[in-house]
Amino acid sequence: MHQSAYSEPILRWAGGKRWLLPTIKSVLGNVVVNNYHEPFLGGAAVFLGTSYSGQAFLSDINAELIEVYECIRDDYESVFDILEGHVNTPEHYYQTRSEVPDAPIERAARFIYLNHTSFNGIYRVNLSGTYNVPYGSRKSINLPALDTLKSISARLQHAKLEARDFEHCIENVEPGDLVFLDPPYTVAHNNNGFVKYNQKLFSWADQCRLSNLIDKIKRANAYYILSNAAHDSIAELFEKGDQRVVTQRKNAVGGASSSRGYASEYLFTNVGRA
Ligand SMILES: C[S@@+](CC[C@H](N)C(=O)[O-])C[C@H]1O[C@@H](n2cnc3c(N)ncnc32)[C@H](O)[C@@H]1O
Repeated sequence: MHQSAYSEPILRWAGGKRWLLPTIKSVLGNVVVNNYHEPFLGGAAVFLGTSYSGQAFLSDINAELIEVYECIRDDYESVFDILEGHVNTPEHYYQTRSEVPDAPIERAARFIYLNHTSFNGIYRVNLSGTYNVPYGSRKSINLPALDTLKSISARLQHAKLEARDFEHCIENVEPGDLVFLDPPYTVAHNNNGFVKYNQKLFSWADQCRLSNLIDKIKRANAYYILSNAAHDSIAELFEKGDQRVVTQRKNAVGGASSSRGYASEYLFTNVGRA
């Protein structure tokens, strides 16, 4: 068993699932899983907050993000040293944003720095793929400490990292493995009870591909845990005779699925309690 200390995510990431960890742990119960797959890695809250007996296969379509994890895995001390040279001022932010370094380690540190100092920590690029999020004017920032990078690096030593579409993850799935799936999903809008898909992020066709992937995971005798929006269309698409759990997330913004500051989300899984 790769026993390593759990770590906190080091990136601010839309849809981060640190809040879901207690539910995931309760769903897993005493079930022993083999390899771990996370094809929508993002801020990696679930990978970093859990541990597994086998290898980890981690991927995301965002190649810059995957490069950050590769650099932390291979040379976290250099990432830290370069981060130390970054300061939280608008001048330095826009200067750093305007230049993409040639060296992967410098690109990784730049990504982490921009993520912490940008407006809302969102990741957005323009049509030519250039990061274009404005400065966040945050009073203080919390760049990762050396020890945190070190422990993430240790966790990643057993991980295979890839920048790719989620569908490819099936290539490595074996019986007894767990696949945690956390796609970008629906957003409630305008308090009118209607849920709209952000076509640019993840279309309905992508949700259908995801549903097919889950069928393949099940045929491979592996486990899946899927997090998704609490919406009837999603319930119907992912109804596979397994378990559907309604989770409650604290919500700063009121919306269609929120009540008293909480928003519902769905968790679908074929993991049974031992
Ligand atoms: C909701 S976030 C995952 C958040 C993560 N669970 C966490 O705790 O931070 C969804 C991720 O899916 C990635 N993504 C979007 N479309 C994808 C695709 N077609 N294949 C793989 N990853 C994709 C995005 O880059 C984003 O990082």
